[in-house]
Amino acid sequence: MYKILKAQELTTNIYLMDVEAPRVAKTCEPGQFVIVRTDGESERIPLTICDYDRERGTVTIVFQIVGAATQMMARLQEGDSFRDFVGPLGCPSDLTKEDAESLKRKRILFVAGGVGAAPVYPQVKWLHERGVDADVIVGSKTRSLLILEKEMEAVAGNLYITTDDGSYGRSGMVTQTIQDLVAEGKQYDVCIAIGPMIMMKFVCKLTKELGIPTVVSLNPIMVDGTGMCGACRVTVGGQVKFACVDGPEFDGHLVNFDEAMSRQQLYRTQEGRAFLKAKEGETHHGGCGNCG
Ligand code: NAD
Ligand code: FES
Repeated sequence: MYKILKAQELTTNIYLMDVEAPRVAKTCEPGQFVIVRTDGESERIPLTICDYDRERGTVTIVFQIVGAATQMMARLQEGDSFRDFVGPLGCPSDLTKEDAESLKRKRILFVAGGVGAAPVYPQVKWLHERGVDADVIVGSKTRSLLILEKEMEAVAGNLYITTDDGSYGRSGMVTQTIQDLVAEGKQYDVCIAIGPMIMMKFVCKLTKELGIPTVVSLNPIMVDGTGMCGACRVTVGGQVKFACVDGPEFDGHLVNFDEAMSRQQLYRTQEGRAFLKAKEGETHHGGCGNCG
């Protein structure tokens, strides 16, 4: 069992929890995720790690209520426990493999949409701790839904908040702010965009036009999280990949977002899965995916 040491509602339907999981905390890196279950019967929920404290042995997760399982998670209080807390899963962010000196020479832009601020935060913090200050755009529908502003402010080189309805910060979607920053003379060597699939699709369309290489973190439906079930199948550069073991980060300019979004919907129903199985053939299930 994995004890919840802190449970906080950040804003409507979005929760933050610090969970006692020393083995995950000891080895996890920014970009990786965990799969949690409240009890033996509940759905497995994949969540990108928001923060970790190796000394305390805790991992911070942020989630939004989107269905029955996340509703059950939200009811848990400090002192309650998760039945499963499996991780760290997936590959760490590519940034964590570069040395600090080469990162310091890079002009890095993060684009976080909505709950996507949670997985962006550990990457920006990791860079800040190594003396690398990145620009960060955080987009939210409206001011009341904005999360982790103070935390992000403490680690970002420059923080640009934007709200779709103009209730706080800049007005418009994150793509508008990217355009504005570039028009103001900003130049970037790499962009990391994390948020809803539709946001990542349009950020990538724009950064391709602007010539900025872009990394996205995909969160398709996941079941086992180990490359076996095929739930998280995506096409990247014309090749079949499984987000849980090959990602979750990919070259955004190569991701087939339209297919990923349509598959996300189809995979929810038995009929949709049967359709995908017929269409995708051998690659519908992942198999071990890693044994060559
Ligand atoms: P949201 O719908 O509030 O969107 C956040 C921001 O994305 C908006 O403020 C806007 O600036 C931008 N955006 C949205 N549509 C856009 C478009 N068409 N063009 C340009 N920019 C656009 O975000 P939300 O409600 O927090 O999103 C929840 C979704 O995000 C869920 O589906 C969840 O699964 C997903 N999510 C993904 C990740 C990840 O790792 N990729 C992490 C957390 C959440
Ligand atoms: Fe990725 Fe099952 S969740 S293959």
